[in-house]
Order: sequence, then C-alpha cells, then structure tokens
Amino acid sequence: MRLAVNIDHVATLRQARKAKEPEPVLAALLAEQAGAQAIVCHLRGDRRHIQERDLRLLRETIKTRLILEMAATDEMLAVAKKVKPEVVSLVPESPNEVTTQGGLDVIGHKKHLSEYIQKLKRVGIRVSIFVDPDEEQIAACQEVGVDLVEINTGKYAEAEKEQDRMKYLEEVKRAAELANSLGLEVHAGHGLDYHNVQPIVEIKEISELSIGFAIVARAAIIGLPEAVQEMLKLLSE
Ligand code: PXP
Repeated sequence: MRLAVNIDHVATLRQARKAKEPEPVLAALLAEQAGAQAIVCHLRGDRRHIQERDLRLLRETIKTRLILEMAATDEMLAVAKKVKPEVVSLVPESPNEVTTQGGLDVIGHKKHLSEYIQKLKRVGIRVSIFVDPDEEQIAACQEVGVDLVEINTGKYAEAEKEQDRMKYLEEVKRAAELANSLGLEVHAGHGLDYHNVQPIVEIKEISELSIGFAIVARAAIIGLPEAVQEMLKLLSE
C-alpha cells in the first residue's frame, strides 16, 4: 500500500496570514524523505491554499510523483499541460465547500469528461477520477477512459455509528473490487486518519491512499517526518 501525502493544508496555514511560510514544497520534500511515495495538491479555482507558484516549485523539486487534483475546467487544463504532473485527479469543486464534498458525477458529464481526459492523456498525463463507491459511477469511469480511480472514503470516515461504518466500508470494498475487475488502478482517500485507516489498508485491490489533513494536523504537533512515518507503519501492517 503506497502513501500519497496531500500538502494542501500546509498552504492553508500560510494563506491564513497571507505570509511566506510555511512552504508546502518544504513539507513535500520532508514527506518524501520520510517515505511518502507521492505528493498530492489541489489547485482550486479560488486559490484558497495551493498557488501556481507552489505547483511550479513542487514540479521542479519532488522526486516521487506529483498528483494534481483539479476541476475539469479549461483554466485547469492549461495549468496541467504546463506543469505536467504524473497524474491529474479530477474532482468536483464548489466555491463554498470546506473540502471536497463527494465524488464526481461521471454519469452526468460523460461527454465532457471523455473529451477532457483525452486531452490530458495526449500530453502523457495519467488521469484519475475521484468517485463515490457507487457501481454505476465506477463503470462510467471506465467508459470515459481514465487510468485509475480514487474511491471516496469520506462517508466511511465520517460515520459515527459502527453499523454505518461497516456498511460504508463494505461499499468501498465492493467498489474497489469492481474497479479492479474493470482493469482500473484503484486508489482511495478522504477523511482517512490514524484511527480509521487500517480496515482500508486490508482491501487488497487498493494500491495507494491519499491522506492530507490527518498527517498535516499531526505534523503540527509532532513534526512531519514522524507523522509520515507513523502513517507508513500503519500502511505496512
Ligand atoms: N482525495 C481527494 C480527492 C481530496 O479532495 C482530498 C482532500 O483534499 C483527499 C483525498 C485527502 O483528504 P484528507 O485531507 O481528508 O486526508
């Protein structure tokens, strides 16, 4: 199980003061040194955390893989073509959300997404879609031509009752099995932390987890290398 560390919230802290630190790129390098296998960031339309400068610096400096989360807009297509991340992860975006609210509605935007994905693939970028654990949406991901999917673990992570948690875990598992059987590489993420990650690690079809908030929050207290290493230990158990 690989770990992709999302460093958006290092930029959130910087932007809270519109200051020059902390530098997301420094966090990315420390995360890599601690063992992270990829770095993720989300360039939002409103630029609330990551800026284009961060993306440029990340592209120039990181040695693993750069995964760029973005909305499927013309503006972001131009950015992706310039920066050339290894993977673009298409996510839904709405201006007033605190964080990504759910998976992309692939069924409702098949034509747009098929064309958009081809434009990214033509310049050598692998494409992922952040998708809810819904069988029809996953089947649609294959139809629009993605290389991989990231299954949304948000509902699993947020469930308060154990019964709900088990139900959502089962949904994630079934979605991972389906995506894998369709020939897609399977990643997962959203809301995963040091307490809820282990059952997801046990799903053998999932090869990579994208984790941000929990690692950055822990890093603020105990330091980033330690926070990344603790998570990697959980992923290897
Ligand atoms: N995957 C996607 C598509 C996301 O939008 C986010 C949040 O930026 C994550 C994973 C990571 O979620 P978290 O910060 O809760 O670990």
